Amino acid sequence: MQLTPDQTRSFEREGYLFFPSLFSAEETRVLTDAVPELYARREAYNVRERGSDAVRTNFAAHLLSAPFARLARHPRMVRPVQQLLGDEPLYMHQFKINGKAAFDGDVWQWHQDYGTWLNDDLMPEPRAMNVAIFLDDVDEFNGPLMFIPGSHRKGVVEAKHDTSTTSYPLWTVDNALIAQLVERAGGRQGGIVSPKGPAGSMILFHGCLVHASGSNLSPWHRVAVYLSLCAVSNHIRRFKRPEYIAHRDFTAIECLGDDCLLRQDLVDLPWQDGMPPSALQTSLDVIEGATA
Ligand code: SIN
Ligand code: MN
Repeated sequence: MQLTPDQTRSFEREGYLFFPSLFSAEETRVLTDAVPELYARREAYNVRERGSDAVRTNFAAHLLSAPFARLARHPRMVRPVQQLLGDEPLYMHQFKINGKAAFDGDVWQWHQDYGTWLNDDLMPEPRAMNVAIFLDDVDEFNGPLMFIPGSHRKGVVEAKHDTSTTSYPLWTVDNALIAQLVERAGGRQGGIVSPKGPAGSMILFHGCLVHASGSNLSPWHRVAVYLSLCAVSNHIRRFKRPEYIAHRDFTAIECLGDDCLLRQDLVDLPWQDGMPPSALQTSLDVIEGATA
């Protein structure tokens, strides 16, 4: 899949691209069917909502589940990211399956992902891309993602480490700055956008794009996969967060065939029999090659 010049210009201007129904219902079902068993596991990589058993986010499924390992190497997802990041080899920095469960799915406060990648992981530059792939239909009721178009052009904005609003710590942007950014982006006329569509849709969005999502009070789940791909040369320089959250294997992703989700090809699943103890170890040491 080759992006058109119009699409690349639109990405540069708005900070995101939306591809409705990029994956077929059959392809999406392969992924959706693998989620309940992953969410049922009592493991550190399943972060549950505050005061509920619902999974807020599941980490690293691409290292232990074949369907998600295939998605992590899918050319329909990897190639456009590669094109937007200047055709560099990419590695998987983070892989999440966010639950946003019916009735229980909590908010994600306003933030930029690169704020966390910089502050926690010492990723040198925002040469990394976020990808969201819907495993359920997303509408205005089940907590869709919200973007402030063009906010990525501000670079890294001030953020505070919020460890109490939800069950998952996040570097968040304060309300006054959000109000300013929304106003500058057009206020009520397009200052906030919210791509919605069927399961199988994909969004690419810049690591500095300011985004959030509300809670899910609807009776419909909003499961979505969030992948963060980073240029190999821009790998993180510190292992402050556990490896199941911020990956330490900087090997370049090699794409599979376009039909990989519907095939049973073997894929490497290094954590299939459990996470290595080292994946839980963290350190504040800066590793070699640091520029941040
Ligand atoms: C995120 O920003 O990482 C997740 C947002 C969401 O799941 O709505
Ligand atoms: Mn985010």
